[in-house]
Amino acid sequence: MKKLQGAKRESTTPTPCYEPLRYDQAMEDHEVYGVIGAEGFERLVAAFYRQVPHDQVLAALYPAHDLAGAERRLRDFLVYRFGGPTNYIEERGHPRLRMRHAPFPIGPLARERWLQLMDNALAEAALPAQAEQQLRSFFRSTATFLINQSEDVSQTLGNRGADSA
Ligand code: HEM
Repeated sequence: MKKLQGAKRESTTPTPCYEPLRYDQAMEDHEVYGVIGAEGFERLVAAFYRQVPHDQVLAALYPAHDLAGAERRLRDFLVYRFGGPTNYIEERGHPRLRMRHAPFPIGPLARERWLQLMDNALAEAALPAQAEQQLRSFFRSTATFLINQSEDVSQTLGNRGADSA
């Protein structure tokens, strides 16, 4: 009874703008590679990067001349992070994701676009539901962790228009 009352009180606290980490998932992160394999990560990350050049916010951030390299880095990182071979660590060292993202202005809009493209990629890849849930949860919390500025002002076309007016 006490527990229920506690849960009720919690639900009145403000909802965070990202999904909190969950502890009741049946699959562990390191088991995901065993389920979807290298092929699953390849399909997912390829589907993500296929959209990047067409996104108004993200296209400006990613290296147009080396999208294939960027695709490989994200794929190798995810493979390592979710229980597969550690090529990423051997080639790039410790991920240090916040430090590596520091050169790119990442505000709430960039986070939202990144997650939207990744949601599209997850839908296209049609991975087993439990693996998809683990990945989605990791993407949400990591994308929030990578925000390094409160606004995306310099990136939006709308703002560029306003500047030149
Ligand atoms: C929040 C929105 C995000 C933006 C705007 C963003 C942007 C970028 C950009 C521009 C790069 C450089 C591309 C390259 O040459 O490698 C990059 C690299 C990378 N990103 Fe993100 N990213 C975001 C979120 C994430 C998330 C959620 C993850 C993890 C799931 C992630 C993992 C990586 C990795 C592993 C690299 C390569 C790091 C390296 O070894 O150099 N990023 N990101």
